[in-house]
Amino acid sequence: MDRREFIKNGCTACLSATIIGAVIPSCTSTRYISGTLGKDGLFVDVSEFLVREKGKTRYHPFIILRNDALQYPVCVYRFNDNEYSALWMQCTHQGTELQAAGDRLQCTAHGSEFDSKGFVRTGPADRSLRSFPVTVLNNQIFIDMRAI
Ligand code: FES
Repeated sequence: MDRREFIKNGCTACLSATIIGAVIPSCTSTRYISGTLGKDGLFVDVSEFLVREKGKTRYHPFIILRNDALQYPVCVYRFNDNEYSALWMQCTHQGTELQAAGDRLQCTAHGSEFDSKGFVRTGPADRSLRSFPVTVLNNQIFIDMRAI
């Protein structure tokens, strides 16, 4: 591939990514909230996962809790009305903050990937993410963080 062809292909790829991101914003948007910090953990209203569009209701597959009191964010995946996972977004390889990408958490430092339950899918990390017990009661999700 010559230089001209390389630049042309690179520009086409960038333009395509931009257009796809603009056309399907609901797929690319990530919901960040702070939650409510209690003595033993974080509380999140179940309605934080709801998305109402054109008279239809759907759910964010995950939300990210960023709270000033926490060193790292917590990614909360929703599997159904009563099943969630809450994952500490610190890579178990060397501690880099993870990025959410759909049903995966990715590390930009060396490429590790974790699934929505916190299990390693791609190394070099070799340990699962720290996770927290989640309970649902009265339309509130409680993330028990006493183990931090
Ligand atoms: S710090 Fe995440 S893969 Fe190395």
